[in-house]
Amino acid sequence: MSGKALKIAISGKGGVGKTSLAAMLARHLAATGRRVIAVDADPVASLGAALGIAGHEDILPIARMHDLIHERTGAEPGKMGGFFKMNPKVDDIPDNYAAVKDNVHLLVMGTVDHGGSGCVCPEAVMLKALLTHLTLFQDDALVMDMEAGVEHLGRATTKGIDLMIIVVEPGARSINAAKMIRKLAADIGLTRIAVVANKVRGPEDEAALRAALPDFELLGFMTYDPKLVEADLAGQLAYPDGFPAPITTVLDAIITHAAA
Ligand SMILES: Nc1ncnc2c1ncn2[C@@H]1O[C@H](COP(=O)(O)OP(=O)(O)OP(=O)(O)O)[C@@H](O)[C@H]1O
Ligand SMILES: [Mg+2]
Repeated sequence: MSGKALKIAISGKGGVGKTSLAAMLARHLAATGRRVIAVDADPVASLGAALGIAGHEDILPIARMHDLIHERTGAEPGKMGGFFKMNPKVDDIPDNYAAVKDNVHLLVMGTVDHGGSGCVCPEAVMLKALLTHLTLFQDDALVMDMEAGVEHLGRATTKGIDLMIIVVEPGARSINAAKMIRKLAADIGLTRIAVVANKVRGPEDEAALRAALPDFELLGFMTYDPKLVEADLAGQLAYPDGFPAPITTVLDAIITHAAA
């Protein structure tokens, strides 16, 4: 295959299925021949589990890789002040520090839990560089599983994103969250946004979601599937033998839209 690199972020209210979708999209992109960088940007990391990566519980988040951050920024993590490089080298990180399965390279970002949102500390500089300066080659794809809600939506995390998917489920709360996310995204210049509906139980849900989101681009509907709940309960990969055709259709719609 041959095509331009893609950067797709997945956002939405808590529990709507962001991580499930991010994992399926990453697996599908990899199955179609791309090198995929899957970024878990949620401090409560769960993308590794959804990808079925063995030992995902033990992955050390990048923000906790003190030696690496020290080496690349020239500063001791956890210490404020002093001088450090604002553009640390990051291009080797997917190859050397990601957990890999079937051409999906998982990077767990972790939390920068001091200094507040405006933190200019080595950990934050490192994560920001990873999200903004990582060189993606032709046929690469980056899929970012975002934290629920809107507070974390920043220029640094969303820079260069080709498409941000907002996942909604039948219910007013996720619809309101979608509207808030779109507004905040527009404030920081991110306007390439589309919605994917999840946990849809039937035509009534579909109609209600269409009516509630009249001016959103709706890329597809994924049905409520108890198999996904069972897989999560058992800590197993969802659809290990391939995705049902309707899900593949939604995944392809996302890719086509992002590439347009
Ligand atoms: N289409 C679906 N049908 C049934 N269950 C689903 C579906 N999609 C996701 N789920 C289940 O819903 C739960 C939440 O999904 P997931 O973790 O993907 O959501 P999330 O938006 O990433 O949550 P969080 O905000 O906590 O990160 C999981 O148990 C998952 O298996
Ligand atoms: Mg999640």
